[in-house]
Amino acid sequence: MTHAIIEDLTQRYTAKKYNPSKKVSPEDLAVLLEALRLSASSINSQPWKFIVIESDEAKQRMHDSFAEKFQFNQPHIKACSHIILFANKICYTKQDYDVVINQSIADNRMSPENRAMAAGAYSFVESSQDAQGNHTEWTRAQTYIALGNALHTLARLKIDSTTMEGIDNKLLKEIFAQELDGYECHVALAIGYHDDKDDYNFGQPKSRLAKEQVIHVI
Ligand SMILES: Cc1cc2nc3c(=O)[nH]c(=O)nc-3n(C[C@H](O)[C@H](O)[C@H](O)COP(=O)(O)O)c2cc1C
Repeated sequence: MTHAIIEDLTQRYTAKKYNPSKKVSPEDLAVLLEALRLSASSINSQPWKFIVIESDEAKQRMHDSFAEKFQFNQPHIKACSHIILFANKICYTKQDYDVVINQSIADNRMSPENRAMAAGAYSFVESSQDAQGNHTEWTRAQTYIALGNALHTLARLKIDSTTMEGIDNKLLKEIFAQELDGYECHVALAIGYHDDKDDYNFGQPKSRLAKEQVIHVI
């Protein structure tokens, strides 16, 4: 199939070694961050925070978070250009949703008379509440929508990336306590440009299950 979208999705791949001398431009980074902000989420809740790790100091802390596990992802941290932590809110309150509704009114998407009706959508959140009164399963799911959006945006920008679920969310909570503050992080994304010689994944053929195995038109 020939289509620009299919070309993007065929060309993108998970980088396994980065060239530390090539950094993502501020212009491209701004496009990625705007794409993240524009991501869709259930009831437009946006129960996320995208923490952009850029400075050497923050990269060192991220590097340190691999002290106990998932060391295979650690080399990316100092070699890549940036790392994005996809953080999801632990407890998504009615007040959090009020902020979304207020924004919706300010953006002329919703009229103030519909505020009460809109607030009713919060029942979606309540139905996913766990025994501790938290909503992590639901908020975490939303961050993966932003992740998918990021992967396609990066493909279009010809920026390489490595999705990392192999991160230590407990250590991250301690090391980035100030930044996470009420959020947790289960998935991160390294971005940058691959090493021409040593990235064993570069140039590999794409491998996916056949259409008949995953698409069922009924
Ligand atoms: C949610 C998620 C978590 C992943 N975690 C890791 C990871 O921790 N380390 C890694 O090297 N790759 C990780 N990957 C990359 C996948 O292995 C990769 O996307 C998959 O094999 C398909 O290959 P492709 O991305 O090159 O098309 C992850 C991908 C996703 C979507």
